[in-house]
Amino acid sequence: TKREPTIIFIFGGSGDLAYRKLVPALYNLYIDKYLPDNFYIYGIGRSEYSEDQYIDYLKGGIASFSRRKEALDETWKVFSPHIDYIKADLEKDDTYQEISNKIAEKEKEWNAKAVVMFYMSVAPQLAPMIATKLYEHGLTADAAHSRMVFEKPFGHDLESARALNIKLGEMFEERQIYRIDHYLGKETVQNILALRFANALFEPLWNCNYIDHVQITAAEDIGIESRGSYYEGAGALRDMVQNHILQLVCMIAMEAPVSFAADEIRNKKLDVLKAIRRWRKDEVHKNAVRGQYGEGWIHGKEIIAYRNEKGVAPNSPVETFAAVKFYVDNWRWRGIPFFVRTGKAMQSKSSLIVIEFKPAPDYAFPPEAGETWRPNRLIISIQPQMDIRLRFQAKQPGPQMILQPVDMVFSYTDAYGDNAPEAYETLLEDVIEGNPTLFMRADQVEKAWEIIQPILEAWQTRPPVDFPNYTPGTWGPEDAEALIARDGYNWTTLP
Ligand code: BG6
Repeated sequence: TKREPTIIFIFGGSGDLAYRKLVPALYNLYIDKYLPDNFYIYGIGRSEYSEDQYIDYLKGGIASFSRRKEALDETWKVFSPHIDYIKADLEKDDTYQEISNKIAEKEKEWNAKAVVMFYMSVAPQLAPMIATKLYEHGLTADAAHSRMVFEKPFGHDLESARALNIKLGEMFEERQIYRIDHYLGKETVQNILALRFANALFEPLWNCNYIDHVQITAAEDIGIESRGSYYEGAGALRDMVQNHILQLVCMIAMEAPVSFAADEIRNKKLDVLKAIRRWRKDEVHKNAVRGQYGEGWIHGKEIIAYRNEKGVAPNSPVETFAAVKFYVDNWRWRGIPFFVRTGKAMQSKSSLIVIEFKPAPDYAFPPEAGETWRPNRLIISIQPQMDIRLRFQAKQPGPQMILQPVDMVFSYTDAYGDNAPEAYETLLEDVIEGNPTLFMRADQVEKAWEIIQPILEAWQTRPPVDFPNYTPGTWGPEDAEALIARDGYNWTTLP
């Protein structure tokens, strides 16, 4: 497709996200020729940078974080003239006048109307203020050409998310608002739609008649590091479950879309969020577990206890681990539990979806055959290992009929190499093209908060008494094992 001329303003242009993710993503899109011929990037920030210093600084980010580093010097020579820095106070009207001038300047130079993207890579409390200023200065009046990108967290709870949606809704059309959930940009997550709906094989089994239960894990093997002050206001439930994990539940549980139109996909996902059972506050303790890591070691590296991290209160009640059992109360998923868990400072980095099927009947094989009860499993490994494995039973070679589980594996890396585009590449490209499919609509965000809200409230009313309750390098608190063991299962990890 022919892409329209595009100007990108990154608020928070000197921040970490711009440095590690956004500019490297734009750089990779440039190399792969996905950017329009006419494009320009302005970083806006408070730090003192000259244009040259800023460009040098960003080059350092590419050198460390871009997946493409070959011929950096040469490519940078042609890419960097598309970048400039604006040192500005975001609360001042002058800043927005300057932005307006820059847009006019570029449109004149290109002799064309430009798509303007405003990327809010700033602390969440600043984003609404910036959006309001943009609106007041008329910079978003052309809904077809101006787009705003909001990073998570979108709201702090149900009420604040609703208020924010209302506020934005008074100024902008929904199609101008791009709420990021970067998990949706991951190749292996997008592939779930292909797996489920481009194959006739799985869909007939994809329901409560054949699926026994679902597990979703998103584990990280690092502590909170420098993000303590952000994380103190969040916790694992807000940071990972409200957004990324519930979106994975949607991908697994949604009905087949009839097209790939943005709202068709989003409607189907919304239906899942509507169907997820809301726990009553007094049911929360049976269905949700929280944890916080103490001190310990991971892969030979010392991890300091969460409560000793910078920016964290010495008696912090904030959870760095959460596990929840959900039900999707609709016809397809009646009675099928979805167990999800996420945590910092766990044994390994691994995001994984496990679909466990009901076992085969066990009457035919003799007892010596062994474990006929072992269920088939489809394991979708999102990262860092990128593969899909189907586990089934085979006959072990030898004179007797002895069964053994084996894996049929599709490895991304073997098939496509290990240079898959990063989530932010896909997502930025979608904003440039004006395709909101992989972004959260207002109603999706609110429904997701609705699901989380009672758990947040129950946890807030009852401060944890046993924190820290897990050691770094483990799979979280014992209660999380108990949560799934009560239904007769174990958490699955990759071998
Ligand atoms: C972010 C969370 O949304 O996702 C972080 O705020 C978390 O706390 C990160 O580390 C995980 O992303 P990924 O892509 O590394 O799984």
